[in-house]
Amino acid sequence: MKETILSINQLSKNYGRIRAVDNLSLDIEKGNVYGILGPNGSGKTTTIGIVLGVINADSGSFKWLGNELTNKERKHIGSIIETPLFYPYLTAISNLRIVADIKGIGYESIEKVLKTVDLFERKNDRFKTYSLGMKQRLALAAAMIGNPEMMILDEPTNGLDPQGIAETRNLIKRIASDGTTILLASHLLDEVQKVCSHVAVLNHGKTMFSGDVDEVLTDTLTIEIASDNLEELQKSLTDFSNLHSITKEGDKLVVRVKGKTNCGELNNFLFGKGIVLSHLSAKKKSLESYFLELLSEKND
Ligand SMILES: Nc1ncnc2c1ncn2[C@@H]1O[C@H](COP(=O)(O)OP(=O)(O)OP(=O)(O)O)[C@@H](O)[C@H]1O
Ligand SMILES: [Mg+2]
Repeated sequence: MKETILSINQLSKNYGRIRAVDNLSLDIEKGNVYGILGPNGSGKTTTIGIVLGVINADSGSFKWLGNELTNKERKHIGSIIETPLFYPYLTAISNLRIVADIKGIGYESIEKVLKTVDLFERKNDRFKTYSLGMKQRLALAAAMIGNPEMMILDEPTNGLDPQGIAETRNLIKRIASDGTTILLASHLLDEVQKVCSHVAVLNHGKTMFSGDVDEVLTDTLTIEIASDNLEELQKSLTDFSNLHSITKEGDKLVVRVKGKTNCGELNNFLFGKGIVLSHLSAKKKSLESYFLELLSEKND
């Protein structure tokens, strides 16, 4: 089994009447890239603030490698939360030295991280002369100092132009390919699809879906069915051309069908095989259509 780096357990946080995080649980395993995907105001930044110890939760808990968050754990975490703060009149390298001092680690990794984010040539330029994309990349460099085991990134491509977005995403993938565990908050479905291996979809502070990106982002419909003879039912289903997967849950089968297949087609198919269903219900839509609906609700 993989090692759990961060374990979040039934976390909740209210701001007055607003429930920003609602009973959220999530396990982050070593080496994976997790996306927290949710529309604006869904609780992504609040969740990240809590696990970084910047915001206090009302209830629930979280553990880093099984421990409370202490300075020792902090050294294993690199993060950028929304707007990184650097000194405008200092050079990139001076700013990174200050970051290293704050983290209590040496300067050895500074040159390497500057190279990784492609700012080595500009290392002696003042921060204020940097473009937005360069500022974001410097923030990533700051998070990478000391070679942390895990990196937490909140909307790392916000405000960038298409080229900057592509560069930053590639950079994140490169960092991940070295084995660094990454938690990335984003309101962009395609960003999560492109960068992450795992996703948790948040809405109003609640997890709506979580799992493997390829698994949850496959365009499928989940249908729950039952009949008197589950074994016979399961066997008949293997001939169904649009089948994606079947799992048995108690006295029901949970069937995922591909693309545009609907419940009626499945029912018809089974009826043709002489099977009368005692139960049929569409459980959930594909993540993509679901997420698009969530966003359009917001825009109404
Ligand atoms: N300091 C605060 N005081 C009051 N309400 C807050 C505060 N911080 C966040 N909220 C509220 O909590 C909810 C979740 O906010 P949060 O910033 O976590 O969302 P988010 O998913 O990061 O959104 P975005 O995509 O816009 O960054 C929102 O309704 C927000 O208005
Ligand atoms: Mg946010």
